[in-house]
Amino acid sequence: MVRTREEVSTADQRAEADDADRLVKDTGAPVPKPRRGLPLPITFYRSAVGKKWVMAVTGVIGMGFVFAHMIGNLHSFEGASQINHYGEWLRELLDPPFPRSFVLWVMRIGLITAVALHIHAAYSLTIMNRRARPVRYQSHRDYVAANFASRTMRWTGVIVLLFLVYHLLDLSFGTSNPGFVRGEVQRNLVASFEQWPVAIAYIVANVALGVHLYHGSWSLFQTVGWNNPRLNPLRRQFAVVFAVVVTVGFISVPIGVLAGVIE
Ligand code: HEM
Repeated sequence: MVRTREEVSTADQRAEADDADRLVKDTGAPVPKPRRGLPLPITFYRSAVGKKWVMAVTGVIGMGFVFAHMIGNLHSFEGASQINHYGEWLRELLDPPFPRSFVLWVMRIGLITAVALHIHAAYSLTIMNRRARPVRYQSHRDYVAANFASRTMRWTGVIVLLFLVYHLLDLSFGTSNPGFVRGEVQRNLVASFEQWPVAIAYIVANVALGVHLYHGSWSLFQTVGWNNPRLNPLRRQFAVVFAVVVTVGFISVPIGVLAGVIE
């Protein structure tokens, strides 16, 4: 018997509702209902594409920060007065018209928000992927496409996050740095990296950051749609150069202290 279009859709809808009821009965898992009336940015963020965009945009903010921070740190090779002066300059940005440290705080809050969104998007994308494929791949994955950096994104991300917590306690708050004196950046750096286990921990964490940046800066172009065979060699070069420059720039400071070049 040939059914009309309306009959088909009602029959299908009924079958769908039956399936959903069965799923609740069988597994106890609630079937998510589409939510109406949410603001557009939230609706977008709830999709996998939206989360990837959030990762890309917050990733770019993070890349800008690490690059600027690495360049700023290189002042330590010029001597104590230069790096201390640089720290002071950051606090005095746009003062006047704004009060001292105001711009620095705006940047800090922007950075904290970006880091929090980056982590949340990464975490919820992982959950989404697991729900979509609860059984792991049975065969070996295509490890040519998924290289070392892309397979270790979660681990390098966690290492960088743990490093960041320690780093703030060490060089911003001074809690874990016995030789810490507020405002004396060079002295704090030397007091920290003179202890070689600390210097080595910084070097390892910044190599992990480099691996993370390499894959991140490569895949962010994929997310924004710049993915074609003509552009890909350029993307690869950019990712390599960016990751290497940032990593070498950062680790040069603990190495400089250990080598006695920074004192
Ligand atoms: C060897 C590598 C690094 C060195 C030598 C270094 C050095 C410093 C120093 C001296 C400060 C304190 C500045 C001040 O109080 O004026 C600082 C703050 C900070 N660093 Fe690093 N850093 C390194 C790597 C990193 C990395 C990889 C990240 C991020 C992933 C990072 C994030 C931060 C943040 C968020 C602050 C606090 C900034 C603020 O309070 O406004 N650092 N760093």
